[in-house]
Amino acid sequence: MKSKLPHVGTTIFTRMSALAHQHDAINLSQGFPNFPADKKLTALAAQALRDDHNQYAPLGGKFSLRKILSEKVARLYDRNIDPETDITLTAGATQAVFTAVATMVHPGDEVIMFKPAYDCYEPAIDLNRGITRVFQMKPPQYAIDWNAVEDLISEKTKLIVLNSPHNPTGKLLHQADIDALIQLVDKYPQLYILSDEVYEHMTFDERPHLSVLQFPKLAARSMACFSFGKTFHVTGWKLGYIIAPEALMNEFRKVHQYNVFCVNHPFQVALAEYLKDADNYLNLPAFYQKKRDHFLSITSRSRLKMLPSEGSYFQLADYSEISNEKDDAFTLRLIREKGLALIPVSGFNQNAEQHHNVRICFAKTDETLEAAAEIINRL
Ligand SMILES: Cc1ncc(COP(=O)(O)O)c(C=O)c1O
Repeated sequence: MKSKLPHVGTTIFTRMSALAHQHDAINLSQGFPNFPADKKLTALAAQALRDDHNQYAPLGGKFSLRKILSEKVARLYDRNIDPETDITLTAGATQAVFTAVATMVHPGDEVIMFKPAYDCYEPAIDLNRGITRVFQMKPPQYAIDWNAVEDLISEKTKLIVLNSPHNPTGKLLHQADIDALIQLVDKYPQLYILSDEVYEHMTFDERPHLSVLQFPKLAARSMACFSFGKTFHVTGWKLGYIIAPEALMNEFRKVHQYNVFCVNHPFQVALAEYLKDADNYLNLPAFYQKKRDHFLSITSRSRLKMLPSEGSYFQLADYSEISNEKDDAFTLRLIREKGLALIPVSGFNQNAEQHHNVRICFAKTDETLEAAAEIINRL
């Protein structure tokens, strides 16, 4: 059979985790926590199973969950959304992204994205026969030049894919970026935005997360997606949600109903209850900032130079003082010879551009971070 994605192999995350396992390496590669979820949340999930919430959920998701999410959005982003029409629960942010792209991108439509990029956007665009136009961000700032972005826009441009806090760079969109984006949306009325905000609760040094939902002109043209897996340390649950204005959401749901129809019901019941305590997400920035700062302090003498992370649970590190190998070769050697798994970043860049940096996930126990630091400090 002719492949629809001839250039796609197994994801780098899966390959690195498999190699980490094979070489019994410390794994700071794949983006998931290695500490347990809150016992209160797992107890609520067990209770929901026992209470027999075990049949299909409504297409849009359990209403009590949509309702409390709309309250959270009003509180955090000052936006009133209708829980009936403007939110849909999804099988993680990945399915939200895929379904949103399938909803919005027609063959030949152009989609602007920023690289390095998380790897699920481009295959979704390709499968829907969209054409990707890339703005490649450069180290160490990974800033976006919005004039250069405007140069990528043509009458065929339909969608801009955003991700903030950003995987893998740990960068945030700042107010100047938002202002530039508003200008573009004003000037090009055919543009829509898909905003991946799965790390919304992981921002550091008192920096706010700026959501497209906060800005009326952006919110009117955006689909914004979120992930309970990331927020509540339960990536294996594969539950998330997407928010969009009613007209867009109607189209999204047409695709969603034949994509999955609805998603895991008992865990939605558990999450609706768990979200009643806002501290469960409001405490996250401090929790992850502590991890970031601890890791930075125990690796401060290393020749692996950490690039500051403003958000997400990732940070990049420049290894050019240690080696001039390409990043795949460097990370392979690191696993095999030193027992440490990190992610090479070039695979997320346009044409595998080499920046001689690696991605580190610090959503790990202190014990794991300290064992990794011992290796890093000897490199
Ligand atoms: C930027 C980004 N978006 C989406 C996802 C996927 O989220 P989920 O596990 O909810 O599908 C990830 C997971 O690593 C991610 O880093």
